Amino acid sequence: MTPTLPNALTLIGAGRMGGALLRGWLDLGLAPANVLVIDPAPAADMQALCASKGVALNPAPPYRAADVLVLAIKPQMLDTAASELSVHLGADTLVLSIMAGKTIADIAARLPAASAIVRSMPNTPAAVGRGVTGAVASASISPLQRNCAQALLSAVGGVVWLDSEDLIDAVTAVSGSGPAYVFLLAEAMTDAGEKAGLPRDIAAQLARATVEGAGELMYREQETSPAQLRVNVTSPGGTTAAALGVLMADDGMTELMTRAVAAAKRRAGELSG
Ligand SMILES: NC(=O)c1ccc[n+]([C@@H]2O[C@H](COP(=O)([O-])OP(=O)(O)OC[C@H]3O[C@@H](n4cnc5c(N)ncnc54)[C@H](OP(=O)(O)O)[C@@H]3O)[C@@H](O)[C@H]2O)c1
Repeated sequence: MTPTLPNALTLIGAGRMGGALLRGWLDLGLAPANVLVIDPAPAADMQALCASKGVALNPAPPYRAADVLVLAIKPQMLDTAASELSVHLGADTLVLSIMAGKTIADIAARLPAASAIVRSMPNTPAAVGRGVTGAVASASISPLQRNCAQALLSAVGGVVWLDSEDLIDAVTAVSGSGPAYVFLLAEAMTDAGEKAGLPRDIAAQLARATVEGAGELMYREQETSPAQLRVNVTSPGGTTAAALGVLMADDGMTELMTRAVAAAKRRAGELSG
């Protein structure tokens, strides 16, 4: 099926993530005239983007019903915003939410007129078009609406569809929070490099470039698993093998990451609702 872009999209909340999505959609070819952005206090760069592209930013009502209503406000703002959202809904509007912790049932309860809902969890590399989003759809979604959600979410990176909404907390714990784990890896390598005798600025430069480069290598070598990429750079009895002996010990990185992801998943569950 050819990707379907909506004829009328309303974006509620043009902050960091909403802004990244909007840029992605415009780059993808979504016609600026088909987009309406609502944000009570848009940042200067968002005002400039909308002005330069001809996107309607906070126009006065009345509004036409949206094909897709994207909810990119903070989850705690949903209750306040809900009463202002129904004017954007028509009989066939798809509601696409990126709000962390707000379930399809939460959204349906606040927007009873919503016909189809997609709950999604993107991550911050969306800002450079290299995010990944986990998404789950309500049972009422049509193939065309799903195709449209796929097109909109894939504008900022990969999309993984889930069969069950129960999996969203685990997605949050792996990819939603995941960029911070990778940044921490660069920090930890910097600290370790300094302890190994390097000046801190040089350790930081080496650690950062290594994480960037290894990520890029993994991105380009889609056919090769991370495990194989690791094996490829590990000579038996060599320096990398010596380090991996520590990192891959029983209480090493896998065990630590398992506990970290479990903690994030638990917290995502607590924050839901
Ligand atoms: N950033 C991430 O990594 C990430 C990842 C996955 C999911 N998310 C989800 O994405 C959503 C947005 O996050 P963000 O980081 O982009 O937050 P953000 O930068 O604070 O953006 C939210 C925007 O919505 C605006 N807003 C508030 N009330 C509104 C209303 N009634 N109508 C229209 N706009 C309104 C805010 O304006 P004010 O600033 O004036 O309040 C702000 O510009 C959140 O639900 C978050 O859970 C974020």
